[in-house]
Amino acid sequence: MPAEITLTDAAGAVPAEAVAPLIRGVAVVRQLTEAGGVLSLSGLERATGLARSTVDRITGTLARMGYVRLDGRDAVLTPRIMELGNAYLAALRLPALLDARADALADELDESVSLAVADRDGIRFIHQATRRRAMSLSFRIGDLLPAERTAPGPLFATEWTEPEWRHWRERRAADPRDEGFPAVPERSSPGPDFEQWTAQVREDGWALDDQLIEPGLVAVSVPVRDPRTGTIACVASVVSHTSRHTADDLRNSLLPTLRSAVRTMEEDLAEDLREAPHGESPAPSGLATWTGASKQELGREFVESLARGLTVLTAFGEDRAELTLTEVAQATGLARATARRALITYEHLGLVTPSGDRRFALTPRVLSLGFPPLSRTTLPALALPHLTALAARIHEPASLAILVGDDVQYTARVATSRVMSVNIAVGTRLPAYATALGRVLLADAPPREHELRALTPRTLTDPAALATALETVRTQGYALVDEELEAGLRSIAVPVRDRTGRVVAALNTATHVTGRTVAEYVRDVLPELTVTAGAIEADLRVAGRFTRVSAA
Ligand code: PHB
Repeated sequence: MPAEITLTDAAGAVPAEAVAPLIRGVAVVRQLTEAGGVLSLSGLERATGLARSTVDRITGTLARMGYVRLDGRDAVLTPRIMELGNAYLAALRLPALLDARADALADELDESVSLAVADRDGIRFIHQATRRRAMSLSFRIGDLLPAERTAPGPLFATEWTEPEWRHWRERRAADPRDEGFPAVPERSSPGPDFEQWTAQVREDGWALDDQLIEPGLVAVSVPVRDPRTGTIACVASVVSHTSRHTADDLRNSLLPTLRSAVRTMEEDLAEDLREAPHGESPAPSGLATWTGASKQELGREFVESLARGLTVLTAFGEDRAELTLTEVAQATGLARATARRALITYEHLGLVTPSGDRRFALTPRVLSLGFPPLSRTTLPALALPHLTALAARIHEPASLAILVGDDVQYTARVATSRVMSVNIAVGTRLPAYATALGRVLLADAPPREHELRALTPRTLTDPAALATALETVRTQGYALVDEELEAGLRSIAVPVRDRTGRVVAALNTATHVTGRTVAEYVRDVLPELTVTAGAIEADLRVAGRFTRVSAA
């Protein structure tokens, strides 16, 4: 067990009503997260101390939920698990309100900007606008850092109560080298007197981190205050490297800009409060029915209490930040007693906190359930398992490509073992106008001039004919290109769209014309491509909700 779990939970014994399989499932997810998203099943057995049969049942259940993929001997976290962290970030609302301001500040200063919230005696990032050069490590959304080694830390500590200071002192004594914080390098020096530093920061209203995490890394931070209460909602930081800015530089040249950006953020928060309440967003439902059916199908291998428990976290979200037990039960379709035991379990694990008026809220620690390693995923990485499954079903290669200038560029590809299969490496560029991938991408792009050269006798070289072909792609939703790039080569492609409906990539397969007829291709292969594009889009919707998923 990592120190982060044992230290903070050591105080309270496990409540009698806690759901043991849920505790074990959470431990598995956290170990996978700390391992960077992949761990062998035997590695999980060692890391959690659970029996192999238990690890198998838990990972099997997580796989059924779409949170884990079993890949040979490895368990791999999937983008879908980000829906747990998304539930917290949506309920918090701060990312939705402030991310764009933080990104704009990073552009203006050409330095990284982050937003962090307090997580007990640590800080946890809820946004990163990264401009990190090769020089220093960069943190991810969901990473936890010890408060006393960061600039946001003493700002949050200005609000600590005596029990919180005591908790901090106990943690420092129990973990002098910060082993409970896997995101930071081991502590090598005691650092400044944190209580004195906090007193100073209370006077100043800002804080400076002069290489407390690692040599070279410097940061300046300012609190963003909640307009209702005046308490700190989150802390905005500008992060740099001593090769560009000394700590003094940060204070003198960047702090004024950071302060004015924070004033704008506070105005945004106040403005949001003046707006009419947001409509209640619909909660997920039908989950209990789904877990029941999975139990029927998988029997002993499906840990229903784990699946039910995890669905409780997804009951929270935008405009659903604080829920009563009844609301949780209604949202999930679980019996009240089941929902209650899940909440008791989560409270024990520090993932849920009572929020007054018999309500419960998610804590920032929910981000430790899979979010950091997946928060920097790319579209090709996200698509690859789906391409693999597609290639296996259709016995043809499957590829993903984006538009680069007038070309399509392959960003992910899974070949089949067939001798005849078309062999193209990732990174290969081909003229967009003569390929199915390219036509799918051009159909969604602003009209442009092409130099249309006849690559085969069948290549469309008349601009009007190409325009008609693109119009057909838009109406029918796919492109089929027959021997226009190369004699004997037939390809079919469909679009992959992001949350906003924009086409961000194209997905295709190609074959030799001696294989299926065109009609067979459309009848048999197109539906498989469409299903695969849908699966990639579903992952992209979850992963892209609070992070930017890069297209390549
Ligand atoms: C960061 O955003 O990476 C960051 C912020 C504040 C620090 C250190 C790092 O003190």
